[in-house]
Amino acid sequence: MANIDPRDRMIVALDLPSAGDARAMVRELGDSVNFYKIGMELVYAGGLELVRELSSKGKKVFLDLKLHDIPNTVEKATQRVADLGATFLTVHAFPQTMKAALKGKGSSSLRILGVTVMTSYDDADLIEAGYSMGVKDLVAHRAQQAKIIGIDGLILSPEEVASMRALIGSRLTLITPGIRPKGSEIGDQKRVMTPGDAISAGADYLVIGRPITSASDPKRVAEAVSDEISSVLG
Ligand code: C5P
Repeated sequence: MANIDPRDRMIVALDLPSAGDARAMVRELGDSVNFYKIGMELVYAGGLELVRELSSKGKKVFLDLKLHDIPNTVEKATQRVADLGATFLTVHAFPQTMKAALKGKGSSSLRILGVTVMTSYDDADLIEAGYSMGVKDLVAHRAQQAKIIGIDGLILSPEEVASMRALIGSRLTLITPGIRPKGSEIGDQKRVMTPGDAISAGADYLVIGRPITSASDPKRVAEAVSDEISSVLG
C-alpha cells in the first residue's frame, strides 16, 4: 500500500449549501481533518474561493468536478484547476478526456482521477444510453484504458476496490465513497463499507460526507474514522 499518512486518507465531502456553511464545518473539524472534497454543489455556491483558502491553510483539496468536454476545453480547465492548488481533480474516464486532463495538469502536483461508471447507473441505464456493455464490464474496460493512458487514480464503489486492485495493480490510486462507520445512517448509498473494511480491501483514500458533517459531534466522528483507518494499517 502506498506511503500515505493515515490521517490524509480520510477525505471529508463538504456537500453543504454555501461556502459559509463549509467554512464553519472546516472550523469545527479543525485539526481532525486534513483533506476536503469540494463538489459541484459547493463550487456553484462560491466553493472555488475555498480551494485557495484551504490550500493556504495547509489543507488538501479534492475538486470533484467530473470534467467532460472537447479535449482543448478539458486541457485548459485542468490548467486552471492546477493553478488553484487542488490535489485531486475528477474527470469522466473517456480516453480523450483523460488524455486532455493529463496534458493540462502538466508538471503541477495535481493528480487526475477517472470516474469509470457513475454508481447511480445499472445495466439497464447503460443500454438506454446506447452502450453494449453492462456496468461490471464497462468499469473494467475503462479502468484498463485509464491505466494505459497513465491516469493517476480511479473513483470506485467500495465493492469494486478489491477486484480492481487485482486487475490494474498497485500504481493507480483508488478512492472510494460509500463509507459508513458501524451504526451510522446509510442514507441513499446502496453499497457501503466501514472505513476499516474499505482500507483492507485496498482503497488508498476514503470519501466520507454525511456521517461526519451531519453528526452531532463531527470532530468526534472524524477522529474515530481516522483511528479506525490507522488501526487497520497497523
Ligand atoms: O455523504 P456521503 O458519505 O454519502 O458522501 C459521499 C460523497 O461521495 C458525496 O460527495 C457523493 O457525491 C460522492 N460520490 C458518491 N458516489 C460516487 C461518486 C461520488 O457517493 N460514485
